[in-house]
Amino acid sequence: MADQWQSSMDHAVAIARRAGEVVREALLDDRAVMTKSSSVDLVTQTDQKVEQLIIQSVKEKFPTHRFIGEESVAAGESCVLTDCPTWIIDPIDGTTNFVHAFPFVAVSIGFSVNKQVEFGVVYSCLEDKMFTARRGKGAFCNGQPLEVSEQKDIQQSIVATEFGSSRAPEAVDRIFCSLKNVLSIPVHGLRGAGTAAINMCLVASGCVEAYYEIGIHVWDVAAGSLIVCEAGGVLMDVEGNGPDANTSCLPARCVSDGCLCAGGEVDLMSRRIIAANSRTIAERLVREIAPFRPPRDDAPPPN
Ligand code: IPD
Repeated sequence: MADQWQSSMDHAVAIARRAGEVVREALLDDRAVMTKSSSVDLVTQTDQKVEQLIIQSVKEKFPTHRFIGEESVAAGESCVLTDCPTWIIDPIDGTTNFVHAFPFVAVSIGFSVNKQVEFGVVYSCLEDKMFTARRGKGAFCNGQPLEVSEQKDIQQSIVATEFGSSRAPEAVDRIFCSLKNVLSIPVHGLRGAGTAAINMCLVASGCVEAYYEIGIHVWDVAAGSLIVCEAGGVLMDVEGNGPDANTSCLPARCVSDGCLCAGGEVDLMSRRIIAANSRTIAERLVREIAPFRPPRDDAPPPN
């Protein structure tokens, strides 16, 4: 049977590549930096330009589809997911890297229908790596199949994480507490590419065994979540509650209205995630992470 979403996915790959060219060209120019939720939550005109480029081109081809885009939400649009076909876009994942020309920057496009992620595209523009996954059909990098690492011993593992863009003292304390705990397991190493999407692709590629973060947004992880699951990995909340042990990681299931899940009961609107090669590694991390709850992506705006 023909794949209903194939033409949308083909379009996502083409537009991610075009967006990546714009990002690469912009790296040659001066980058005027603005801030959003805090002085370290950065945005540039390129983020806004690339998001508009993607949205315009999708609208022309698929006029009924909806959007959740990082910069549109920053400009006041709502971040509410419906059952309609929805493009979840991070035009530049790794904006801080982009500003500093630190060489990991991604265009991330997830696509959901009935609150399930149907395909994910992450284009690591400076490495020229196109990561793709279609639900039930595997994950690929530049056309080559991806598989997570088989390592189940966390002491033989590399774990990726990020510091995020909150500098609220309680959040910083929790982040450092988790770092200390995980480092002291001990793991072989801690890494962070500076982009959630690329960190998740590193899990899918088998280069790191796990990635966790509290404070990410749905546009950072929608595409990567499917890429991890389709490469054989699992997703879990930082307090556990992943798919049960006998369930293979079949994205995606909705656990409550307004949420978006992939690979069991991970709520992609919750701003918390563990993406791992296995349930064993994910559960081990749950024991070490000091959890906190940032406001959900789909929370109503404060009065
Ligand atoms: C950020 C990156 C970063 C992560 C932040 C994200 P942005 O996305 O993914 O690695 O630590 O939580 O917000 O702002 O560069 O699109």
